[in-house]
Amino acid sequence: MSQISFSFKDRHVLVTGGAQGIGFEIAKEFLRANALVTVADYNAEALDAAGKELKSFGTVQTCRLDVTDRSSCQKMAESLTKPLNVLINNAGITRDKSFAKMTEQDFDQVIQTNLTGLFNVTKALFEKFDANQPKRIINMASVVALYGNFGQTNYAAAKAGVVGMTKTWAKEFGRKGFTSNAVAPGFIRTKMTEAMPKEVLDGITAKVPVQRLGETSDIANACLFLASDQASYINGTVISVDGGLVL
Ligand SMILES: NC(=O)c1ccc[n+]([C@@H]2O[C@H](COP(=O)([O-])OP(=O)(O)OC[C@H]3O[C@@H](n4cnc5c(N)ncnc54)[C@H](O)[C@@H]3O)[C@@H](O)[C@H]2O)c1
Repeated sequence: MSQISFSFKDRHVLVTGGAQGIGFEIAKEFLRANALVTVADYNAEALDAAGKELKSFGTVQTCRLDVTDRSSCQKMAESLTKPLNVLINNAGITRDKSFAKMTEQDFDQVIQTNLTGLFNVTKALFEKFDANQPKRIINMASVVALYGNFGQTNYAAAKAGVVGMTKTWAKEFGRKGFTSNAVAPGFIRTKMTEAMPKEVLDGITAKVPVQRLGETSDIANACLFLASDQASYINGTVISVDGGLVL
């Protein structure tokens, strides 16, 4: 549970890819902070289960969304019942392979989800933000956007694109009352990292100065802060939440 106390009463937060992992934890922490939360995801079964579990934390809505499909993004935008205050572009996938083994499909799928997907969602929701309140966009990048990673040509390229898009939006949207920032998680314990071999994860843990993998709550805490009124002068940054891994 978050140790940071923020109130998002009367604020509407939308989290893409919120049916599990980091997005689920973000949704949970915003609910605990009294936000109305819309969880959007393409995995119907996981979305349904997440909606049921999250109900005990506050007022949650669920919405089927495929971030790679522009008409799906449009439908989601049209279905919103309340103007938006915070958009967390979190949905993402991996298709890790060395460059030699990576197929065109592996490359395209990751770019379409992790980079173009953020464009699609933000484009559809841009006019849906509350005109009278601070507006926040938080994009999920990754430590590998800044430093590259073996086997992640597609993923590192997409996440580096997210950083560029975040900074551009900070410049373009600042005058419209938005801040746009990115969070760059290190290696966080989720299904995404569970898919990695144990010896690789042990090797990574040994390299992290704080000697542990990250928890989903570490990322949720950063999102709560960036979305808060207290962070109103933070714009166009990438906050690394990685235990010092990249130092
Ligand atoms: N776990 C880590 O160590 C780590 C590290 C750095 C960055 N990240 C980033 O954090 C974000 C969340 O990662 P996670 O570890 O929770 O992953 P996860 O696989 O546990 O969850 C990702 C969620 O996104 C959803 N999703 C995928 N494609 C989608 C699409 N086309 N439309 C809608 N929803 C879609 C999935 O259904 C799932 O619920 C991702 O952007 C990921 O790249 C994760």
